[in-house]
Amino acid sequence: MNYLTTQPAHIHTAFLSPQHVAEIVQTRGLPAIFAGLVEAIRADFLRWPEFDKTARVASHSANGVIELMPIADAKTYTFKYVNGHPGNTQRGLSTVMAFGVLADVDTGTPLLVSELTLTTALRTAATSVMAAQALARPDSRVMALIGNGSQSEFQALAFHHVLGIEELRLYDIDEAATAKLMRNLAGTSLRLVKCSSAADAARGADIITTVTADKSQATIITPGMVQPGMHINGVGGDCPSKTELHADVLRAGPVFVEYAPQSRVEGDVQQMAADFPVTELWQVLNGTAMGRSADEQVTVFDSVGFALEDYSALRFMREQALALGIGEPLPLIPALADPKDLFSVLGTAAPVANRQAPVARENHHA
Ligand SMILES: NC(=O)c1ccc[n+]([C@@H]2O[C@H](COP(=O)([O-])OP(=O)(O)OC[C@H]3O[C@@H](n4cnc5c(N)ncnc54)[C@H](O)[C@@H]3O)[C@@H](O)[C@H]2O)c1
Repeated sequence: MNYLTTQPAHIHTAFLSPQHVAEIVQTRGLPAIFAGLVEAIRADFLRWPEFDKTARVASHSANGVIELMPIADAKTYTFKYVNGHPGNTQRGLSTVMAFGVLADVDTGTPLLVSELTLTTALRTAATSVMAAQALARPDSRVMALIGNGSQSEFQALAFHHVLGIEELRLYDIDEAATAKLMRNLAGTSLRLVKCSSAADAARGADIITTVTADKSQATIITPGMVQPGMHINGVGGDCPSKTELHADVLRAGPVFVEYAPQSRVEGDVQQMAADFPVTELWQVLNGTAMGRSADEQVTVFDSVGFALEDYSALRFMREQALALGIGEPLPLIPALADPKDLFSVLGTAAPVANRQAPVARENHHA
């Protein structure tokens, strides 16, 4: 008997691979995906008190970090596994790789296991745009984009499609990364300007997005680059001892964060005293806190990535997948005729005494 084929109908774990998510994006189109994600994340931020929130659990090592990001409301539980290894690209690996789970709180059944590498880039860009809608000047048309790696096209296109950015001023210490970004965006109506430094990129920009990866206390943006009225979208400073903004840039304007207990440890505000004022974004969205108060004001979104954005993205992608019939079943949980008879699953295997353990087989061949 193959228990996988006799799985009862009530066990439904679906799997979404990067190809499945790409198919969803291609079918819906990037503008609709970004617009949908912005609305999904906003709707969940507006129900902030309903969530059981925690700062992510980070495991640091010499080259990077591995993080677990759980969150739940009364109905749905999600978590993301994600790493951040800035040196990975030199080893042919991505800096950020992720996957996650969405489960039914009522029974604990895992309903979805999904890739989240692509989805993280989409949801991070959507979160940046959601923050900019509340904080940037509405007439913003020019954006500096500093750091032209994996996340950069997603940031560029979300700002283009949802916020109306028309010109990008690009800089990366790696010219090949900028060339790749320009190739990938060549078919759009964005004006692309390659710049010689971060300061050059910032010149004349309405919004500065920093999305660099470097395991260091960097100061990509210094006070001299910041002009009145700018909005700064700091995405890459997201780990202890990994920053992008000079402390005086943070002092230049009100600073907005996702979840203060996490951001004070991981964000650019890690440089500031524990009582440095920050405003959680959800309060701006629901009207209980002030966002931008004047055209001349400098605003800073110190993004680190919060579990709620992945919760929203997992739910959004699951809804899209169900509607489009994309994805595949994942036989993750044993299906049992008698739920107390887990042992019956072993009935599918050969008798234990007749099998050699894999390690013993390998030794035998050695
Ligand atoms: N806030 C969030 O929610 C969130 C989500 C995803 C990724 N991130 C962070 O975003 C950053 C970028 O991620 P990625 O996947 O694009 O990484 P990536 O390695 O693909 O790209 C990073 C780019 O930054 C460039 N860079 C490094 N130092 C620079 C400097 N001083 N000036 C200009 N460019 C510089 C690199 O050359 C590289 O091209 C990472 O730090 C990652 O941890 C944050």
